[in-house]
Amino acid sequence: MSSEARKTVVLTGASRGIGHATVKRFSQEGWRVLTCSRDVIPDSCQYDPNWTNHITADLGQPEETNRFVEEALTILGGQPVHALVNNAAISPKTSFKERLGILNGDVDAWREVFELNFFTPLQLARGFAKPLHQGKGVIVNITSIAGHAIHPFAGSAYSTSKAALSALTREMAVEFATLGVRVNAVAPGEIETAMIGPEYEALIPRIPMGRMGTTEEVAGVVFQLCGKDFGYVTGTEIFLTGGQHLY
Ligand SMILES: NC(=O)c1ccc[n+]([C@@H]2O[C@H](COP(=O)([O-])OP(=O)(O)OC[C@H]3O[C@@H](n4cnc5c(N)ncnc54)[C@H](OP(=O)(O)O)[C@@H]3O)[C@@H](O)[C@H]2O)c1
Repeated sequence: MSSEARKTVVLTGASRGIGHATVKRFSQEGWRVLTCSRDVIPDSCQYDPNWTNHITADLGQPEETNRFVEEALTILGGQPVHALVNNAAISPKTSFKERLGILNGDVDAWREVFELNFFTPLQLARGFAKPLHQGKGVIVNITSIAGHAIHPFAGSAYSTSKAALSALTREMAVEFATLGVRVNAVAPGEIETAMIGPEYEALIPRIPMGRMGTTEEVAGVVFQLCGKDFGYVTGTEIFLTGGQHLY
């Protein structure tokens, strides 16, 4: 594919889990991939010709997020961005491995959760607004089933940060429509990743499809949302839960 025809995706949280699977999907489809996480990317990915740039940064620190945007814009050199996937997030437990709730844990831990899970997507949407406008691009925010109903293991800080991100998706969709940019969210249920501990097996009876989802299934929906067939879809949240959200 010529460099002019090749599309570009910017994605956070690329080093493992859903983010890593999503990078692989976009790369397989010939997109140029520009990513960020605190860790470097796995050795096996170093030679992916489409994964052109990975910037290490702690997106839980606003000044580091700004540095990521500045470095990425320099690399882009005025070229458009066709997709921004806000994927990086944390779901911390207390030091006793309990849910981080309203009555326990440190309030500063809530601020850390909101910084990465909510403010970083907002900051990145602003930071990449111009190249997204140039590319008639798409923003996909990775939210969660936990943002819509009480979840037995996800803490209150995480759940409310994801609820706020769902609301931000609606607000972004309206503001970014004026730039020709669509904004949608994908809300996973239980997906087999490092975020999922052995205790999650107990949730399988609550899932009508009777199994957890795979990272590739999430990646596929994110990719399709960025395609022409979804050209009139904005402000929508797609549940990837095997039906669990219906209860
Ligand atoms: N797994 C599930 O079942 C599930 C369910 C609902 C929603 N989700 C959502 O799906 C998304 C991905 O989840 P996952 O399960 O794939 O998570 P994961 O396996 O824990 O991966 C999280 C990714 O985010 C990066 N990250 C974490 N903190 C960061 C920071 N401060 N700065 C930059 N990057 C950071 C991590 O890389 P580094 O550690 O290298 O920084 C990693 O690449 C999240 O938004 C999560 O809330 C997941």
